[in-house]
Parts: sequence; structure tokens; C-alpha cells
Amino acid sequence: MTFASAPHILAIAAGIQPAYDKDVTPTPPACGRDIPWRRGEAAGFGLPRVRVETPAPPVLGKEPVHRKCADFRFDPDSMCESGFLFFGEPMTLHDKFGRQITDLRVSVTDRCNFRCVYCRSADPENYREHDEILSWNELERLARIFADLGIQKMRITGGEPLVRDGVEVYLRKLTELRVPDISMTTNGHLLAERVPGLISAGLHRINVSLDSLDPIKFEKITRTRSYDSVMRGIDAVQATALAPAKINAVLVRGFNEDEVEAFAAFARERGVIMRFIEFMPLDADRHWSRDLMVPAEEVYRRIHAQWPLVQIPHAQSETARKYRFADGAPGEIGLIAPVTQPFCGHCSRIRLTADGKVRTCLFSKDDHDLRGMLRNGASDADIEERIRALVDQKEKGHRINEAGFVPPSRTMVFIGG
Ligand code: 5AD
Ligand code: SF4
Repeated sequence: MTFASAPHILAIAAGIQPAYDKDVTPTPPACGRDIPWRRGEAAGFGLPRVRVETPAPPVLGKEPVHRKCADFRFDPDSMCESGFLFFGEPMTLHDKFGRQITDLRVSVTDRCNFRCVYCRSADPENYREHDEILSWNELERLARIFADLGIQKMRITGGEPLVRDGVEVYLRKLTELRVPDISMTTNGHLLAERVPGLISAGLHRINVSLDSLDPIKFEKITRTRSYDSVMRGIDAVQATALAPAKINAVLVRGFNEDEVEAFAAFARERGVIMRFIEFMPLDADRHWSRDLMVPAEEVYRRIHAQWPLVQIPHAQSETARKYRFADGAPGEIGLIAPVTQPFCGHCSRIRLTADGKVRTCLFSKDDHDLRGMLRNGASDADIEERIRALVDQKEKGHRINEAGFVPPSRTMVFIGG
């Protein structure tokens, strides 16, 4: 597929290509063993937060870095980078460039009930067999090993994590392991009814994907009719201590780029954190091109022109540059610019795919199998040693901006966002 096919993606947006069955919002069968979902009471997590803001002008990519903890509660988005660790444990995972690895994204399923154009193909499912996917027990064992290795933040992703039965039970295990920060990224379709259970299982933070505020356009982008259920999910989150929800929008030129201001208005009205993510070459159909990506700097300029923004300090390893509204309106803007302003130099993340591979970068050419070790009797010490060795070899950075860049063979739905 060449970049010349990029118009195809626009054709879907324009409704020219009937790329899916509009009457079906598929919810695939959950993989792994069925564990009944346990409903719990919403627990309060909301200690007061104190923010320190810098007076510096908000120049994207040149903002001062926030090096002191400004939050009373543990909020890794504002985590100190001073070498200290919360809860008094030494940080033990690092790579050969000296980056400390504290953040693990765990994909618990490669299945998804959406087919976002910038992620999945409209073609039939090509999921892995259930026994290829790590069982909850295997995922729990790895979580314990990673926690022992100093992982502080675990984000549960998919595919769509809520399509796999037992997510709440797994979250509870992470809570019992005393993982300091437990978060989830979801497309929101199944969220509304699950919020209380997620909170009671120990979820600290949640990101919901929402790529359009227009139900018709939403349908074209996600190839589902789930707009209302996603909105109900966001409302449900906003009514709990999980608020403010982080709302992720991937902007694609010609699709939803015209909604920047509408999204900013949404942040102001709902008090959510609206995050704009640059489209990355991780789509299954290989339609990505630089022309289809809306640079974060453009988003910043457009919002700032309408509602002046004030920068909020960020930790070095944070992917988002954060802004509040100068007029004091609620809500926040986050700009995530992996393509135009890569943050690889301060990356603290690794990923575990649903089939048990470690990816040290979204754009890694290779991944590293742990499933075989788990299933062939390796000891915890063996697995720890392997993880240390492969983290040591983490790539310096992605090469999207270099000549000859080749997108990874695994796309976002198989890697976990
Ligand atoms: N580029 C940028 N972000 C992507 N996501 C999925 N595919 C892409 C892509 N090609 C985002 C989703 C979701 C998270 C899991 O990853 O919007 O918020
Ligand atoms: Fe599913 Fe998320 Fe990919 Fe959309 S971006 S198809 S919701 S995994």
C-alpha cells in the first residue's frame, strides 16, 4: 500500500466506501477464562491536588520542565524525576541510555469492538486464538515481576480492554500488588455501567477515546454507532472520583481537523482533559502520511487564538504538553506530538502485548517473547533477567522522521495504546 492510497481514508470519511456493516456494533466474545464481573461501590480517590504553574510563555516543545512534585496524592503525570521513588522502593529498570523505565502498558486483549480508521482495518477480524493470549494468571504473574522490577505505572489497554471479562478482577490484583498508579485506556463503548466496578477494583485514572463530537462523523471514524454509549461512559466517569476523564482524540486531516475548537469547548463545558494525539504510522491499512497528520503546534495555535492557554508544568517523561484556559474555565488541553516533537529522549515506557511480547518502543521492529518462558517453566528470576536484558536494549527513539522509515508490522490494536 502506498501513500497514494491516502485518499481512501478520506473516501471512508465521506461515506463513499461502505467499508463495514453499519448495523452491527460488534462486541466480540471475551477471550481467556470467564471471570464474572464484580460490581463494587465507587470509592473516593480525590485528595485535593495542588498545581504549580510556570509563568513562562507556552511555546510548544520549549516549555520548562516540572521537576518538583506538585501533587499531594500520587499522580505520576506529575511524577518527580529526581531519582526518588514513592513508597521508598529503588527504581531498578533502566536502559543503556540511562532512561528509567517505570511505566508499563499492558494489552489484555487484541480484540476491539471498534474499527477506527487510523487503527484497524475494515476487513474481517484477524484476532489471535484465545490460547495465544496470556491468561489472567499469566498476566498477574508478569505484573508482579514487573512491579518487583520497579514499574510504578501500569496502564491497561487493548484492543479494547473492557471486552475481556475479568478486567476488574485483574485491576484488583494490581491493587493488591500495590502498583502505585493504575490506569486504563478504553474506547468507552462498554464504560458507563462498568465505572463503579472499575473504581472499586482500584482504577486511578482513565482515558477515553473520542474522535468526533458529531455522531455521524464519529460513526465514520470508528465504524460503529456507539457515540451515545461513549458519551454516557464519559458522563459516568465525570460523576465519580475518576474525574476528570482524559479524552483522547486522534486528528486526521480531512476527517476531524475542523473539530479542534469544538473539542476545546467540550473540555471547557465538561471539565475534561482534552488530549490531541498526532496521527502515527500505526494504522492497519497503512494509509498514514504526513499530510494526514495535524501537527500539535497547529492545534495549539487554533485553540490559543480563541481561548488563550496557560502552560501547566509537566514531568520530563510525560508525553503530553498540558495547558489550562487563561480565563479560568474548567478543563485542560493536552497536546501529544510524537511525530513533530518526539519525546523519546525521556521515554519511561515499555509495552506488553496481549500475546506476551515485550515491546520496548511503539515502533520496535522486533518484540521479545515472554509467553514461551511463562509456559515452559522459567523461574521468576529467569524472567526478570530477560526483562532487564531487553529493556537495556530499548531503542534510542523512533525513526518516523528519518528517510527509509518502515512502520512496524504490528499495528496499534495489537500493540496497545
Ligand atoms: N495514531 C495515534 N494514536 C492512535 N491510537 C490508535 N491508533 C493510533 C494512531 N495510528 C490511539 C487511540 C487511543 C489509543 C489507544 O491509541 O486513539 O486513544
Ligand atoms: Fe479499537 Fe482503540 Fe483501535 Fe479504535 S483505536 S479500533 S477503539 S483499539
